[in-house]
Amino acid sequence: MKTALIFGVTGQDGSYLAEFLLKKKYKVHGVKRKSSSYNTNRIDHILETNKNFSLHYGDVTDAILVMNIISRIRPDEIYNLSAQSHVAVSFEIPEYTANVDALGCLRILEAIKSSNLTKKCKFYQAGTSEMYGKVHEIPQNEKTSFYPRSPYGVSKVFSHWMTINYREAYNMFACNGILFNHESPRRGETFVTRKVTIALSKIKLGLQKKLLVGNLNAKRDWGHAKDYVEAQWLILQQKKPDDFVISTGKNYSVKKFIDMCAKLLDIKLKWTGKGINSKAFDQNGNCIIECDKRYYRPTEVDILLGDSTKAKKLLKWKPKISFKELVKEMVEYDFQNLKKTYREKK
Ligand code: NAP
Ligand code: GDD
Repeated sequence: MKTALIFGVTGQDGSYLAEFLLKKKYKVHGVKRKSSSYNTNRIDHILETNKNFSLHYGDVTDAILVMNIISRIRPDEIYNLSAQSHVAVSFEIPEYTANVDALGCLRILEAIKSSNLTKKCKFYQAGTSEMYGKVHEIPQNEKTSFYPRSPYGVSKVFSHWMTINYREAYNMFACNGILFNHESPRRGETFVTRKVTIALSKIKLGLQKKLLVGNLNAKRDWGHAKDYVEAQWLILQQKKPDDFVISTGKNYSVKKFIDMCAKLLDIKLKWTGKGINSKAFDQNGNCIIECDKRYYRPTEVDILLGDSTKAKKLLKWKPKISFKELVKEMVEYDFQNLKKTYREKK
């Protein structure tokens, strides 16, 4: 039985990866942070039912704890999914973001080395398409240069190169996944997709009047988190450690995402204005979407589009869930959930 350790197990990807590995008969350990309120809602269903799943308190800003956890568990595979993962927030808390997203990875790599696990333990670093930032070419592949546009992106570039450095210096099986945006009904509520599916569902149910957003023209290559955690595992099952771009190869604007959600909810949108003056009205003439400068970033990543040819060839990986299916699943989940809560409250 293989043992895996997941940093960031309480997050969107952590929860799907834990489910995936348990199905593959792994013993899974996860690291959760101390919080004043419950933060395990994405994994409670596994905790209650699976004896091969256990949690440990920890934080990647605490080097001693990271070291203790790794040397005690001595896992076969470590997945570093922990991060302050919100790009806009990283402008507000840049030093904290670097501490978690850059130094956190280094602390894990160093703990693997100090515990004499360089031969036994494989390491996965959750890299991101945000590292391409102001893109040098379209689409982006493993050879495309980085030009990060946020403290988040810059911190992830540090981790990317640190992972390669430990691989080359200490012959470690250390890999980077360069994952493009991936979403699900478990996506954090402040990322644009989930913010939109929740807000439009509430507007449809009469629980909210307006949705405020930022840049509607940004384009993202959106996949489903379930497909992407499989790629994370596949990357660690190869003969040689390597880095892989994971993406769908198609991108859509934020505006298009909103239009698709509205259509599924039977809201007929009429757009007026341009840029920050864009507004959308529903069939009753109510203005239900507006732009607000609070949601614009000091430096934006306008367009991301991934080229996963290498992953297709070597990992035999390709996304199974389409963008249309993803949008439908997210809208249906939030609409049904909110409808139920609203009815119960009434
Ligand atoms: P997420 O939902 O924000 O989850 C992040 C996880 O990291 C949570 O479990 C969080 O714990 C944990 N964490 C935060 N700070 C920590 C710290 N100081 N010590 C230990 N754990 C900490 O992110 P996600 O969408 O699942 O993404 C997983 C990883 O992939 C992240 O590293 C992200 O940057 C990267 N990534 C994501 C995407 C995407 O589109 N989703 C694309 C490319 C790369 P709490 O629950 O306590 O906050
Ligand atoms: N969050 C948010 N909120 N974004 C908005 C809004 C809004 O109200 N309005 C427009 N946007 C635009 C952002 O400016 C960005 O261009 C795009 O929508 C996507 O924003 P997010 O959903 O916040 O995701 P992200 O692309 O910045 O970052 C996500 O994907 C990265 C991979 O490319 C995160 O999951 C990162 O952790 C991940 O690395």
